[in-house]
Amino acid sequence: MTVLVTGGAGFIGSNFIFYELEKHPEDRIVCLDKLTYAGNLSTLKAVLEKPNFRFVKEDICHREAVYQLFEEEKPDMVVHFAAESHVDRSIENPGVFLETNIMGTAVLMDACRKYGIKRYHQVSTDEVYGDLPLDRPDLLFTEETPLHTSSPYSSSKAGADLLVMAYHRTFGLPVTISRCSNNYGPYQFPEKLIPLMIANCLADKPLPVYGEGKNVRDWLYVEDHCKAIDLIIRKGKEGEIYNIGGHNEMANIDIVKLILKELGKPESLITYVTDRKGHDMRYAIDPAKIHRELGWLPETMFAEGIKKTIQWYLDNKEWWETIISGEYQNYYREMYGNR
Ligand code: NAD
Ligand code: DAU
Repeated sequence: MTVLVTGGAGFIGSNFIFYELEKHPEDRIVCLDKLTYAGNLSTLKAVLEKPNFRFVKEDICHREAVYQLFEEEKPDMVVHFAAESHVDRSIENPGVFLETNIMGTAVLMDACRKYGIKRYHQVSTDEVYGDLPLDRPDLLFTEETPLHTSSPYSSSKAGADLLVMAYHRTFGLPVTISRCSNNYGPYQFPEKLIPLMIANCLADKPLPVYGEGKNVRDWLYVEDHCKAIDLIIRKGKEGEIYNIGGHNEMANIDIVKLILKELGKPESLITYVTDRKGHDMRYAIDPAKIHRELGWLPETMFAEGIKKTIQWYLDNKEWWETIISGEYQNYYREMYGNR
């Protein structure tokens, strides 16, 4: 079987490729990635020479090139990770989010219709459900929770999800969608909370906590997300949506304090900065459906996963130091300079 993975040079896509090549060595993986600021070919260096792996640098919005790739590879499945993924950037510049996340998804699904596909899988997010109040711990996102987005990023992801379901109903495209909570683990770009705090901590730089740091996210180790997607594409039911999460809600400030403790740094590094516009208060996934129907359960608990993650960033300084020494410096100045 040939599996086309988009966005495989990014955080979750690369972890998914490593998992698939290990778990299903009989399959061929083709990775399609534009290598935006968030994509990094060096992440894939361990698999680039494998005979059952091919990397193609291309934009998912480039229709002719995508069709050409389908013509060449005739993929059996598409697992679509490629996206603009950072909420803060979507607040500064929404346009590219609409282009990549909505139009790019349409191009991929058109290619699937034209050339035929056994399964198209959309990697979506819990952010499409909006947020939950802090004082109602009984409330969780289920697959029936109405879409209610807050940021240009989450709106673009919700737009794509609606389009995916429309292609299923109108054209009979064999689709599935997964909506996962916040991921952490190796190869996450250091603009996101956990790797940013680790990198700043190690450089004794201030740790910029938005607002009061009370916002809650539901953290899942990236490999558990990859395992869930692998189950969905092979055993999930066409036309179905699956929420993925590990019941691991934590306030941002507690995550930051934990990282400081693990790295032996003082809490005086914490700096409270102006809040994110439209900042979602709390995310919390109910993963009952994927557990009941596909037997998925998270395997890496947070206490272990965060230690592994911090150790990975300590052992792989070259990977992230190269990233933060380039264009990232301008990004950081603009995003945090006057905050
Ligand atoms: P990422 O930003 O680390 O990686 C995105 C990848 O997509 C990069 O390699 C980039 O080069 C590529 N890309 C971007 N635009 C492209 C285009 N036009 N054509 C081809 N490639 C393009 O993102 P991530 O955190 O790995 O997220 C992957 C997917 O998972 C996204 O769809 C995101 O919405 C979803 N998701 C992320 C999380 C999370 O916590 N990170 C949680 C749930 C869902
Ligand atoms: O829930 C899934 C989503 O999780 C994915 O769909 C997104 O692609 C992914 O980026 C992530 O979105 P968040 O906005 O939750 O992640 P981020 O790491 O940007 O922020 C996590 C929390 O930490 C959020 O409440 C904002 C806060 N934060 C973030 C940064 C970067 C800070 O307080 N300071 C920071 O510097």
